[in-house]
Amino acid sequence: MSTIIKKANQIEITDYMEGDGWHPLSWNEKEIAQLPPYPDTKALQKAYQELRALPPLITSWEIEALKDKLADAAEGNSFLLQGGDCAETFESCTSDKLVNMLKVMLQMSFIMIHEMGIPIVRVGRVAGQYAKPRSKDFEVVNGEKMLNYRGDLINSYMPNAKARQPDPIRLLKAYEKAALSINFLRALSDEGFADLQHPEQWELDFMKNNEFYEEYAQMVNTINKAIKFMDAITPNKLNTSDKVDFYTSHEALNLFYESAQTRRVPRKQGWFNLTAHMVWLGNRTQQIDGAHIEYLKGIQNPIGIKVGPPFDLDNLLGILDTLNPAHEAGKIVLITRMGHNKVKKHLSSFIRAVKQNGHPVVWSCDPMHGNAYATGDNVKTRRFDEILKEIKETFSVHRSEGSNLGGVHLELTGDNVTECVGGANGLKEDGLGINYETYCDPRLNYEQSLEMAFLVAKEWNKSHL
Ligand code: PEP
Ligand code: CO
Repeated sequence: MSTIIKKANQIEITDYMEGDGWHPLSWNEKEIAQLPPYPDTKALQKAYQELRALPPLITSWEIEALKDKLADAAEGNSFLLQGGDCAETFESCTSDKLVNMLKVMLQMSFIMIHEMGIPIVRVGRVAGQYAKPRSKDFEVVNGEKMLNYRGDLINSYMPNAKARQPDPIRLLKAYEKAALSINFLRALSDEGFADLQHPEQWELDFMKNNEFYEEYAQMVNTINKAIKFMDAITPNKLNTSDKVDFYTSHEALNLFYESAQTRRVPRKQGWFNLTAHMVWLGNRTQQIDGAHIEYLKGIQNPIGIKVGPPFDLDNLLGILDTLNPAHEAGKIVLITRMGHNKVKKHLSSFIRAVKQNGHPVVWSCDPMHGNAYATGDNVKTRRFDEILKEIKETFSVHRSEGSNLGGVHLELTGDNVTECVGGANGLKEDGLGINYETYCDPRLNYEQSLEMAFLVAKEWNKSHL
């Protein structure tokens, strides 16, 4: 079912040739999963060359800085908070959505810094998360058979066969939307994001139903006092000039997009993907001889690797050897997404094998992708309790293996959506229709995200106090 594995081979390789070695399009000779062929290869070639000439979205030194921070997270000296939309759409590139997303991520990180006492590395699933793997190639709508929607970077959500064909213009459109998003996120975080200096304005009433409410209120009070104190001793400083670090990431799925912006930079070794600080290898594109691994092995960026069903340990070890032969610290984030009732069975063997092979990785937990289910009314959702359970189980297995869980990977939004059930506010299945926005997977909303940050920090403390 889950295929569209075709030889990519759709683009003329022009001037990358450097012997027979790796170059940004060397994957083009391989089979590629999860990317239907573009019908118009001429238009593809044109869009590719245009994208290739456009300026980068980020810089190589930012990529290197993130790698250093991830090396700290691998050691347990900092913690990775990666989060954002399941799928961004071009339409969702609005000022409100970006502000809300940055705000919730920063508030979550404040909670975690306060509760855990270590730096938090913030990485958004943002400014490029426009392409989606699917488990089925086709769907039938009103009797018409069409390719599945694969994210705005590839085709249109509109249900007709023509709109569902991969369209190369979308490579440029995605670049534009990503650039607009990054521009705004940088402006907000460069100035310290003054909104955050008022935790008393965080909307906390929802926590009243949580058994930890007292503790939570106390924590916000302390953060508030700390900010006032800092403000008093360094007047005008905190509100205006403290830059907060915020990095971007997305799944490296549409390799035409990734490779067109993959470059060498002056006075540095190697090639950099300059569309995002970090990219990840999804769970469905892990063919060891396939295009995605061929592409990822040539870039300097930190790389996430999803670890989930079919739980193929040998394949993962092969990927690690291929993507990080030098065992560079901070290079690989292993993002386990097993499902709350599978962690106990599978995680420890992965931890042991990776340790034995000497790979220095950041272990991160994605408690979202193994825990989706459809309600009786066929609404795709996730239970807050099961998400939390996967986090707890994952911490617990790492503890018993003498290993360190160095991060979490969450699908979330700063908006008041109703997509996941549970949490202190007790959203029930029959409330999902109130504000269900996602085109793809259900996300934690603002309140559920803050609550989760608090509960993650509590779990982390069990391993570190
Ligand atoms: C995702 O993170 O959006 C995703 C599709 O995850 P996975 O590849 O783990 O299924
Ligand atoms: Co998802």
